[in-house]
Amino acid sequence: MNHLTKNLTLESLEHWLRQDNAAELEKLWAAADAVRREHVGDAVHLRGLIEISNYCVRQCAYCGLAVTNPYLERYRMTDEEILECARQAHQFGYGTVVMQAGEDYGLETDRIARLVQAIKAELPLAVTLSLGERNPQELALWRTAGADRYLLRFETSDPELYAMIHPPRPGQTYSRFDLLRILRQLGYEVGSGVMIGIPGQTYRTLAHDILKFEQFDLDMIGVGPYIPNPLTPLGRGEEPLCIDPEQQVPNSELMAYKVIALTRLVCPQANIPSTTALATINRDNGRELGLSRGANVVMPNVTPVKYRTRYEIYPGKACLNETAQACQGCLKGRIRALGRFVGQGPGGRVR
Ligand code: 5AD
Ligand code: FES
Repeated sequence: MNHLTKNLTLESLEHWLRQDNAAELEKLWAAADAVRREHVGDAVHLRGLIEISNYCVRQCAYCGLAVTNPYLERYRMTDEEILECARQAHQFGYGTVVMQAGEDYGLETDRIARLVQAIKAELPLAVTLSLGERNPQELALWRTAGADRYLLRFETSDPELYAMIHPPRPGQTYSRFDLLRILRQLGYEVGSGVMIGIPGQTYRTLAHDILKFEQFDLDMIGVGPYIPNPLTPLGRGEEPLCIDPEQQVPNSELMAYKVIALTRLVCPQANIPSTTALATINRDNGRELGLSRGANVVMPNVTPVKYRTRYEIYPGKACLNETAQACQGCLKGRIRALGRFVGQGPGGRVR
């Protein structure tokens, strides 16, 4: 039942998520590491993350960028600042830039299209967008402008939990799952993922989430521990979904590794980052352990320091006061120390 085959069932995924035996877990790490090496190799691809705006119209109960947080000082980067970050990412040898923001309609459709075009015309970079639940017409325009990839986490596959922590926008037509399908039809490489240990998330739900990664045949899968933010309703302990404590997934470091490893087993070819949230809960070697247990991507921040301190999705984010230059040196050193190497080129989905 609990064999580490490619065809993991709901029951065996749940079994592994509950596994706490160190010797058994060693088998899981080894299996994930072997599958990672076989399918995507020893390269670690670096994606330069540009946090272009921290405005957001949404009210997600867990996220510090939500419009409901009055304490956050808001910013929106200029075109020239964004282009400068992209140039720097290229100089560092990163093959991709990720433009990420809250769901900010002050980032106009045409402006994003022009920015994508400008980056693609000047630099040999893959461009990933992570701008929230924008409408299909905009997504299509940005694809035509040259955007290669889009990230939109579905956060949880449990509709009841999702509804509780993620109020809809008035007049909203498309669910995140609809948008993931649309992105695929538009020819994007599609990335999604979930948080681990949100209050109300059960082991069964999390096993379902992992099966969803497989069903959607996702190209990129980002998973990280939920980190409570005291400036959010969920972080203050409001609106908890009442579930049996035995069923609640902990937002622990160990659980994050289990999810990364199982994700690698069900999606052998996916690009899987060792996330900032993981580095935040273990600054010493969280990123390395993620890379050793299934991950093959890191997303170093290239946002200017004056802005990155304000992109506070959750408190205590790793690298908050580091320069892009410092993160570059730090990460390359860590990757080499693991016996891995920095991937060259865009590092797209292998098939
Ligand atoms: N803890 C951890 N991850 C979070 N995210 C949002 N809020 C938190 C939090 N409090 C994640 C979500 C989102 C991504 C950009 O950051 O999964 O999709
Ligand atoms: Fe930013 Fe190490 S990755 S300082």
